[in-house]
Amino acid sequence: MTSLTLKNVLLLGGTLVGVSQAQFGSHELYTSSPPVYPSPNATGTGGWQDAFARAQAFLAELSLEEKVEMVTGTTGPCAGNIKPIERLNFNGLCLQDGPAGIRQAIYASVFPAGVVAAASWDRSLMYHRSLLMGREFRGKGAHVALMPVAGPLGRHAQGGRNWEGFSPDPYLTGVGMEESVRGMQAAGVQATSKHYIGNEQEIQRNPSSNSSNQTIEALSSNIDDRTMHELYLWPFANAVHAGTASIMCSYQRLNTSYGCQNSKSLNGILKEELGFQGYVMSDWGAVHAGVATANAGLDMNMPGGIGFLDPTPSFWGANLTTAVNNGSVAESRVDDMVLRIMTPYFYLGQDEDFPFVDESSSVINFFDPATWTYNYTLGPVVDVRDGHAQLIRDLASAGTVLLKNTNNALPLRAPRYLGVFGNDATEPEDGLYSLNLLAGIDAGNYEDGTLAIGGGSGTGRFTYIVPPLEAIKRRSSQDGTLLQYVLNNDKLAQNPYFWNLAPTPPEVCIFFAKTWCTEGADRPNLDLEWNATALIANLASICNNTIVVTHSCGINDLAPIAANPNVTAILAAHYPGQETGNSIVNILYGDVNPSGHLPYTIGRNVSDGVIPLVNSTELLNTTDPNAWQADFTEGQLIDYRHFDARNITPLYHFGYGLSYTTFNVSDLSVTNVDAAGSVPRLPPALPVQPGGNPTLWSTLLRATVTVANTGEVAGAVVPQLYVSLPQAEAGPGTPVKTLRGFDKVYLEPGESAEVGFDLLRRDLSFWDVGAQQWRLPTGAVQVAVGLHAGDLSESTSVTV
Ligand SMILES: *[C@@H]1O[C@H](CO)[C@@H](O)[C@H](O)[C@H]1NC(C)=O
Ligand SMILES: *[C@@H]1O[C@H](CO)[C@@H](O)[C@H](O)[C@H]1NC(C)=O
Ligand SMILES: *[C@@H]1O[C@H](CO)[C@@H](O)[C@H](O)[C@H]1NC(C)=O
Ligand SMILES: *[C@@H]1O[C@H](CO)[C@@H](O)[C@H](O)[C@H]1NC(C)=O
Ligand SMILES: *[C@@H]1O[C@H](CO)[C@@H](O)[C@H](O)[C@H]1NC(C)=O
Ligand SMILES: *[C@@H]1O[C@H](CO)[C@@H](O)[C@H](O)[C@H]1NC(C)=O
Ligand SMILES: *[C@@H]1O[C@H](CO)[C@@H](O)[C@H](O)[C@H]1NC(C)=O
Ligand SMILES: *[C@@H]1O[C@H](CO)[C@@H](O)[C@H](O)[C@H]1NC(C)=O
Ligand SMILES: *[C@@H]1O[C@H](CO)[C@@H](O)[C@H](O)[C@H]1NC(C)=O
Ligand SMILES: *[C@@H]1O[C@H](CO)[C@@H](O)[C@H](O)[C@H]1NC(C)=O
Ligand SMILES: *[C@@H]1O[C@H](CO)[C@@H](O)[C@H](O)[C@H]1NC(C)=O
Ligand SMILES: *[C@@H]1O[C@H](CO)[C@@H](O)[C@H](O)[C@H]1NC(C)=O
Repeated sequence: MTSLTLKNVLLLGGTLVGVSQAQFGSHELYTSSPPVYPSPNATGTGGWQDAFARAQAFLAELSLEEKVEMVTGTTGPCAGNIKPIERLNFNGLCLQDGPAGIRQAIYASVFPAGVVAAASWDRSLMYHRSLLMGREFRGKGAHVALMPVAGPLGRHAQGGRNWEGFSPDPYLTGVGMEESVRGMQAAGVQATSKHYIGNEQEIQRNPSSNSSNQTIEALSSNIDDRTMHELYLWPFANAVHAGTASIMCSYQRLNTSYGCQNSKSLNGILKEELGFQGYVMSDWGAVHAGVATANAGLDMNMPGGIGFLDPTPSFWGANLTTAVNNGSVAESRVDDMVLRIMTPYFYLGQDEDFPFVDESSSVINFFDPATWTYNYTLGPVVDVRDGHAQLIRDLASAGTVLLKNTNNALPLRAPRYLGVFGNDATEPEDGLYSLNLLAGIDAGNYEDGTLAIGGGSGTGRFTYIVPPLEAIKRRSSQDGTLLQYVLNNDKLAQNPYFWNLAPTPPEVCIFFAKTWCTEGADRPNLDLEWNATALIANLASICNNTIVVTHSCGINDLAPIAANPNVTAILAAHYPGQETGNSIVNILYGDVNPSGHLPYTIGRNVSDGVIPLVNSTELLNTTDPNAWQADFTEGQLIDYRHFDARNITPLYHFGYGLSYTTFNVSDLSVTNVDAAGSVPRLPPALPVQPGGNPTLWSTLLRATVTVANTGEVAGAVVPQLYVSLPQAEAGPGTPVKTLRGFDKVYLEPGESAEVGFDLLRRDLSFWDVGAQQWRLPTGAVQVAVGLHAGDLSESTSVTV
């Protein structure tokens, strides 16, 4: 038993908003995690049966020592390595970061960040992003890609890793996960959906030592059962349904038990309830026990006791053999680990013609080849970029969100005189790689240079980057535009009159602003960094046609800029990857009509809806090993759910984004697939398949709307469907509405199209804690469709 029961409850400044006290059990906001043992065996159900049989045959050839080596990482050329077994023609497993492309590689692409994919609201682009990434991983000999990301989901606007994932909305993130898993695995590479679960902030994600070397445990995310199911687990269910090979358990604790030894979340929720057939892999160094992790459902220990973030020798490795021999871990548990690891390997055909690990990986990885325990056969250095730049450029344009556009400022029409400003417009001054793993917020946050990806394991090594200024130079020269620029923010701050511009002001001024994010640190605030907000105000005081472009990891305080009448346009481009300059030029000049939409909400008051990080001087100096507690007392009411529940009007709604044309949504109609009221309220008992009870994924309602392009230019529209469950029936903490459908449709001027949405049983149910099932309400469900969360022009109510 690995969990603790805490009696001294800390109330960290939150009032109970979304969750009734009863759900946490009287006044005890966090308790233990209930024990769920034994760990369920995989069976290969859901289409992996043939591969499972091959994994069984493979397992039958292994000694106990070899089985243990199959589940414990070792040194080698990749970020994570499983040792080869030549006798069985098994070349080992190569695991590589990360969510924006293969990080530890040269001649590979850096794709747009997850937040950009989410902002595109384009399923096909999400799929193709991952498919092309997958081809690069495969080309470099990586069997396992450590992506996609649904944790953090984005509870905290200041969360340092939100950009690696998609959106604080679980439905949008669920689509991102599903498309990413399918795309990656269509390329023959195993997807690792991470970080499971509740890894919402970076501060104290790992235990620390105080000055007398005693352990202060990692933060505990204390999440009630309903919030777990409807919010944080939701996108992981999509990933399991889509067949993710692996799930990475997270660093922090969940209900006081470490993420990689929480039997309720691993054995109970993931393997039993969701029917996950793949393997649970630890985050790097997230294993803090041997027997306890093995029995709680962990299947692969990474990196495996090789010094980096991990005790040497490992809790597993030879210690796991001992644990089997002394009876604390059943050998059948280790067998199940191996089967879970080898089934996706055979399913994806990785035993046939899989490229050897690119020899460049070994030169630039964490581990000195001199220290390797095994010799690996490496392949030649290959260039895997293969024309992927086009998709990268298209996706970054499709994910650029136009938030403001007054006086027809955009698109640009052959301006005679253009000014470009700000330290985000140009070449990164300190190089093209920002690993800076576990370093502070300032590492990689260089003063000069555009931000095209964040830092840490989710970064990428650029082979080139197209800075915005360079792309603007090229494009504006076609029109004979006079182009002037001032890029040094310090100089801009010192001289509000922009001394080296002549004449003043330019006809159009574009300010490039940025916000850095990296793994290992959270954001100190939501500002545009390097004093950009003040500098934009300065610029706008002399240039009444100021356009702001942000390259940021997520939510920024944009209220002062939005309110400035001389700021005529705002574009949120996030982290667009290597083609950043070309992507933004396409939007600025109207070669691509913007069609991105915010995957989160921006408040008028910067603190609106922002859930503070758990952090304080007292906590940083605590002597209580269990002081770090994050009680998710807001329940499901994060992001737009919070604004809805409190009736607060945001600055920019969830799903908001302008176009150079206008759209209209009409004629919503919703029909029942089966007669209203005829389907059982709880899903009929059926054998669990990957994704849970298969009935959860069946369509109960079909909605259609007509969307029309009512403007002058072609463009893509994103009709969004939201469902409101009957509050009285679904109970306290039920969101006013939740996104449950969207599509992206390209329309010529004057053209219209019918768009259909399938609403699944899970889309229309709430998690009934007592029944431990998804329950359909008997009362009327409201279905609304429109262009963003604050503009739902069509609505109707229907009984399911
Ligand atoms: C965490 O604790 C809450 C409150 O007791 C409970 O509802 C939930 O099921 C627990 N979750 C896990 C994974 O232990
Ligand atoms: C898993 O399978 C083994 C046989 O390989 C069996 O002994 C064990 O009881 C099974 N465990 C569960 C939880 O079904
Ligand atoms: C803490 O541990 C480290 C290494 O484990 C050791 O070098 C150091 O002396 C210890 N400090 C104290 C105060 O015990
Ligand atoms: C593993 O076992 C060895 C002894 O065989 C022991 O020294 C070491 O501390 C163990 N490792 C862990 C992390 O428990
Ligand atoms: C069995 O071995 C494991 C790993 O060395 C160890 O942690 C555990 O305490 C041992 N248990 C018993 C009952 O000896
Ligand atoms: C790896 O190969 C080198 C050179 O062939 C050899 O000297 C070394 O012993 C080998 N290392 C291992 C771990 O087999
Ligand atoms: C930020 O810009 C304002 C306005 O130009 C200036 O007064 C201030 O000194 C600047 N601050 C920094 C830290 O550069
Ligand atoms: C965490 O708290 C410390 C101490 O108050 C502060 O210095 C630090 O900036 C905080 N970190 C963040 C990301 O807010
Ligand atoms: C907007 O620009 C005009 C010049 O066209 C200037 O007079 C005015 O002060 C500016 N407004 C702000 C808020 O900077
Ligand atoms: C904007 O500035 C230009 C150039 O200074 C000026 O000609 C124009 O009148 C201004 N427009 C407004 C609305 O102030
Ligand atoms: C807490 O620790 C910081 C260093 O992390 C130190 O600067 C500060 O003085 C400490 N505060 C208290 C109240 O002990
Ligand atoms: C370190 O933590 C232990 C408890 O975990 C506490 O007893 C001790 O006072 C702490 N030491 C310091 C220097 O804070």
